[in-house]
Amino acid sequence: MASPAPTVSATRTARLVGDVTSTRPVYRALADALRLTVADGRIAPGTRLPSERDLTHALGLSRTTVTRAYDVLRDTGYLRSVRGSGSVATLPTGVVHRGSGGLFPGDVADGVLDLTCAAPRAPAGIVEAYERAVERLPSYLGGTGYLTYGLPELREALAERYTARGVPTRAEDVLVTSGAVAGLGVVLRALVSPGDRVLVEDPTYPNTLDLLRGGGARLRTLPVDPDGWDLDDADRVARSAAARAAVLVPDFHNPTGALLDDEGRARLAAALRSAGTVPVVDETIAEIDLIGGPMALPLAAHAPEAVSVGSASKSHWGGLRTGWVRAPHGRMRDLVEARVASDLGAPVLEQLVHLELLRACPGLTEDRRTDLVAARDAAATALRAQLPEVRFTPARGGLSLWCELPPGTSASRVAVAAEPEGLLLAPGPRFAVEGGLDRWLRLPHVLPAEAMTDAVGRLARAVHAVAGRGPDPADRRRPVRPLVA
Ligand SMILES: Cc1ncc(COP(=O)(O)O)c(C=O)c1O
Repeated sequence: MASPAPTVSATRTARLVGDVTSTRPVYRALADALRLTVADGRIAPGTRLPSERDLTHALGLSRTTVTRAYDVLRDTGYLRSVRGSGSVATLPTGVVHRGSGGLFPGDVADGVLDLTCAAPRAPAGIVEAYERAVERLPSYLGGTGYLTYGLPELREALAERYTARGVPTRAEDVLVTSGAVAGLGVVLRALVSPGDRVLVEDPTYPNTLDLLRGGGARLRTLPVDPDGWDLDDADRVARSAAARAAVLVPDFHNPTGALLDDEGRARLAAALRSAGTVPVVDETIAEIDLIGGPMALPLAAHAPEAVSVGSASKSHWGGLRTGWVRAPHGRMRDLVEARVASDLGAPVLEQLVHLELLRACPGLTEDRRTDLVAARDAAATALRAQLPEVRFTPARGGLSLWCELPPGTSASRVAVAAEPEGLLLAPGPRFAVEGGLDRWLRLPHVLPAEAMTDAVGRLARAVHAVAGRGPDPADRRRPVRPLVA
């Protein structure tokens, strides 16, 4: 028997679309906002949308506005009326759904600048690293190739890196995974049972939210903004959440870029400890320090009970799909058991490449730092010149500028208006735990400097169009490409 379609409540739908009243006509703003949530998966295709009456009530709009918005969605292939099931979200033919609110890039047409994903290109020297790895591969071919804990030399090198960063670590305390998201999956499966409360930063990296929701966690939030964490309130938040675990990104937090200093780490660690909450620290971006010089200690230096997760994706290349978990002694067994439930090890060749890259440079290479700084500065200069009303603070590290749009400007609407300009963006609501943040936009500076300047030019046209200062690109009768996740 077919299972009933999942539903999304009117209240949640209203939270996801945010305030659409500042853009005229409102029915089209509502249709665009709904289309975006379906295209990027915050409302999964196949989900039954609220009735027009319920949504009218939840949004405080007129019934005609909601009816017309639903009509637009039906006409454009984003909504289908199913007898007995109301209106169900769908995707038009040819549109690829890329995840449930997560961020991951797909194929993009020539000339389109994809800034939905904050990940850099492969570094110079990677081909040589692969060549050296291939030379070393034969000595592993006599074994099964199932390295459930990871390549011993790579575990050793990762442990040395932690030790050098101030947390003495042994190879036995490191598990090599297929990237950080896979590592987080392992940790959360080992630590968190359905119904457990988990503290997450708000906003945060959407794929983490998906993992947590998929595992049945009940989310509690710890606010973060570009100025950082509200530590004065951390004690109260930690105590009232009484969470099993807290997933934190203290190094160049995604998306805000905030960096927690040592004093803050010590305070947060103490607050979590007194609430009996295990810190799960996502260090994927920790090496992307664009200034260099002394950094805060890894959170595990302040919280020995912390479990840390890291990745080669940002410091080296996402295509390696290698990462790790560092855990206190005694947790490894549970982690390995949780791991084998979904995969039995990362590829040997990629682990060898990761090892080669770490040996060549354990942190961020000078080349990569130079490129990222040039890209960030180009984006910042273009923003100041073309969009002086947009506020942002270039962070010391990380891969993005977290941009605050002028009052009344919806980032979701800007993302829609940017599509026909050939620019794909991730608006703030993607990172929000409970909706909102629609005046924020994450702008990753991961393209070459000239492309970043070009991207900001396209962004400026989209912002001006939404603010009514230019032609609305959506009126150009070009096919509107849905935003990829
Ligand atoms: C905080 C954070 N964690 C994890 C990831 C993904 O890591 P991986 O590619 O290693 O799975 C990202 C990528 O943007 C990230 O920003």
